[in-house]
Amino acid sequence: MTDEPFRPALHLTPPKGWMNDPNGLVKVGDTWHVFYQHDPDSTTHGPMHWGRASTLDFMDWTHHPIALAPEGGWMCYSGSAIETDDGVKVFFTDHKSLPGGQERQNQSLVHADLEVGNFVRDPANPVLPSHGPGVFRDPKVFRHAPTGRWIMLLTTGQQIAIYSSANLVDWTFESTFGATEGFHSDAPWECPDLVELSTPEGETAWMLCVGVASGAPWGGTGTQYFIGDFDGRRFVNRNSADAAHWADWGHDFYAAQSFSRCDGGDAVWMAWASNWVYARQTPTRAFRGALTHPRILSLRKGQDGLRLVQRLPDPLRSALPEVSLGDVSCPPACRCAFTLAPGEGLSLFGAATPQLQNSVDGRRLIVNRREAWAEGVAPGFAGTHAVLDGEGPLRGEVYLDHGIVEICLEDGGLWITELSFPERVDVAPRIVGLRG
Ligand code: FRU
Repeated sequence: MTDEPFRPALHLTPPKGWMNDPNGLVKVGDTWHVFYQHDPDSTTHGPMHWGRASTLDFMDWTHHPIALAPEGGWMCYSGSAIETDDGVKVFFTDHKSLPGGQERQNQSLVHADLEVGNFVRDPANPVLPSHGPGVFRDPKVFRHAPTGRWIMLLTTGQQIAIYSSANLVDWTFESTFGATEGFHSDAPWECPDLVELSTPEGETAWMLCVGVASGAPWGGTGTQYFIGDFDGRRFVNRNSADAAHWADWGHDFYAAQSFSRCDGGDAVWMAWASNWVYARQTPTRAFRGALTHPRILSLRKGQDGLRLVQRLPDPLRSALPEVSLGDVSCPPACRCAFTLAPGEGLSLFGAATPQLQNSVDGRRLIVNRREAWAEGVAPGFAGTHAVLDGEGPLRGEVYLDHGIVEICLEDGGLWITELSFPERVDVAPRIVGLRG
């Protein structure tokens, strides 16, 4: 599908229509199954369906018929999927908009076979009805081995609710997390996930992540995470309640979800590569929206405790053609390693000003998207933001795919995902000097 310049070659996009959050990520056998928020009939957010695709390698995608469609005015909002002894179980939010701008949201269960097809809604639906109008959505279900129970995470506004179940149908409320922790704005938290990770030395901890629907440091949506302990009932943050940790420091990494997998392999997640501020206006034609590359998750112990590390899975990374800085041109999907000394920047797509700048004193990293959209700019897209109090040279690798830019720094400890809509997507990255 290369019908338009900003259709990525490797990242998952819908054949046509709208895409937002990844949903129901589940690995069964060798196959990675991906659903996504989808409107097949328009390129903007509308009556939400679940689109469906699968892959063995995150490069070649097979598209399948739509898995879930609205019924009786109830839309299919985000959720998750798990493999059980009795097939694959899918949980999603039945959503209805009410007069006066309110919303009604219930959690429903759908049965599927191990090919992840033949979807049948459970007669007991909704298995977890809401108590009234308001945010009550995005069920992420997983097995908690020590207690032998299923856990469901939901967003209930600016906090996460945790439920447990022995049979996937009857759910018991356990606890909430987050009302006074981490970053809050005037918008809800969305799409929670909770996964146990480890350091290379074998130390383990749980990572809880949530999408923050607006007000992230760069503007609009962002994904924050907490490191802590989870006993099957309650999540306890190991860090200060005031601290906010961001899984990605770019505009375009949202609603991240980890794959449910029974094979004991590494945790892997994907996110929606866009931002609610301008997601409905990006300049594609037949489709709108893409998922990020998958990233393998782990932890690293630093001076401030445990922090999230993300890496591209190796078969995918090594399949990307390697481009050297200063090459005249490059394939639109490629990777390029770089080192930025203080006072240097990384220029992408032939832009006059660099998109990534290591400040002259080497203490701040600036992301600049002022020139990243050739034809026009939606509000909230252009601009610059500072990333961290770094120091010295910055080593990293940039992954490009027709305007999707994913930058990995600090050996996976810092990521920046940014969409670009340049005149040409085949100009190789180069390093430029900045003036003091
Ligand atoms: C996050 C989100 C979810 C919701 C879905 C609707 O981007 O707002 O909270 O379920 O998108 O499409």
